[in-house]
Amino acid sequence: MSDRFLVTGGGRLVGGVVVSGAKNSVLKLMAAALLAEGTTTISNCPDILDVPLMAAVLEGLGCVVRLDGDIVEITTPETPRYRADFEAVEKFRASVCVLGPLLARCKRAIVALPGGDAIGSRPLDMHQQGLRQLGATSKIEHGCVVAEAEALHGAEVSLEFPSVGATENILMAAVLATGETTIINAAREPDIVDLCDMLVQMGARIEGAGTSVLSVVGVEKLHPTSHRVIGDRIVAATWGIAAAITQGDVEVSGIDPAHLSLVLDKLRAVGAEVTTRENSFRVVQRNRPVAVNFATLPYPGFPTDLQPMAIVLAAVADGTSVITENIFEARFRFVEEMMRLGAQTRIDGHHVAIRGIPQLSSAHVWSSDIRAGAGLVLAALVADGVTIVDDVFHIDRGYPSFVEDLKSLGVEIVRVPASD
Ligand code: UD1
Repeated sequence: MSDRFLVTGGGRLVGGVVVSGAKNSVLKLMAAALLAEGTTTISNCPDILDVPLMAAVLEGLGCVVRLDGDIVEITTPETPRYRADFEAVEKFRASVCVLGPLLARCKRAIVALPGGDAIGSRPLDMHQQGLRQLGATSKIEHGCVVAEAEALHGAEVSLEFPSVGATENILMAAVLATGETTIINAAREPDIVDLCDMLVQMGARIEGAGTSVLSVVGVEKLHPTSHRVIGDRIVAATWGIAAAITQGDVEVSGIDPAHLSLVLDKLRAVGAEVTTRENSFRVVQRNRPVAVNFATLPYPGFPTDLQPMAIVLAAVADGTSVITENIFEARFRFVEEMMRLGAQTRIDGHHVAIRGIPQLSSAHVWSSDIRAGAGLVLAALVADGVTIVDDVFHIDRGYPSFVEDLKSLGVEIVRVPASD
């Protein structure tokens, strides 16, 4: 049985939080360790469930993994196993990023189709199409992606959408392919730049990281390295938005604020005073936030992972906002839970119109994915009384020290087994 949070609303968030490494970066960096025989060390790893899960995936592939505080050490054998069709793989989406490295190292890969968050169908057609263009065969068989390539060769790959996962898999296959690969319409997320930085330290030849054209010249062999994960911009922005909705004052450090330019501009637009330094930012909100519109888009657009938080902000803002979801079709399931808390919402296709009210009303709500779970806790902060947030195991997958951080910012929150 999963735990639940009891959250008492009504207070202002005041204080400072330090964010750790980005979930969506560390899992790919761990997969990249498969590309080189020997020991790769990754530091600033977040204390979240998906890290030991990814460690279990790598162990199933023959690696030896040591987790020690915020450091993970991965020792990859000369030839990893190519079958990733065991239980740990199915438990989370990011496991699919072993596909590219396994294909590059083992000439074949069998990877179970991943589970993960209930935010809509998440096909792998672009991953498969890109790998085919590099010379692989790829099909779905018995619930697994089955890919084979006697030899991978460079190619021009045009993505029809800048998919983060497809860019990563194609990139990690291309670094060991023969010749030059160009990925056109590549994802530009900071996580991709972080992965490129680590691959370059391992000896890969990549240009264009952070732009929509990635050029890769394949090399014969990569070597292990040590790398520090970038700070988690989604966790950092969650705290920034929490400060705005509670009319609080929060300093967030451990993050490059340049990764959140648009999000911080949106916070300024709702009336917050936002100041930035090299590795931190501070959000001070003195009055009720004013309504602004949000539309999710690939980076550098507004992140879909912050869409639930934008909905909470709109739910208590002065005026009416329209939130548009352009990435994942099922993400508005969260809106139903917000309605239990009294939010005034109306869904029309992939838009939701929200008329803000000064305060939400506490209720019993259920998390459906990592970000929706965090969004519900934020909503509970601006509800009268005590809100019960159930299924918080989702939140544990993405937010290290969530309860401790909230407590340090002045929130009354307790974690109890769901049976209590
Ligand atoms: C990653 C992040 C997730 C974030 C998302 C978008 C991880 C583990 N997860 O997910 O938190 O919300 O980026 O920023 O890093 N698509 C296809 N075919 C494909 C691949 C994707 O149609 O082959 C579609 C998806 O269904 C979705 C869109 O493209 O509608 C974007 O998905 P993608 O960028 O690939 O997201 P993920 O890498 O799965």
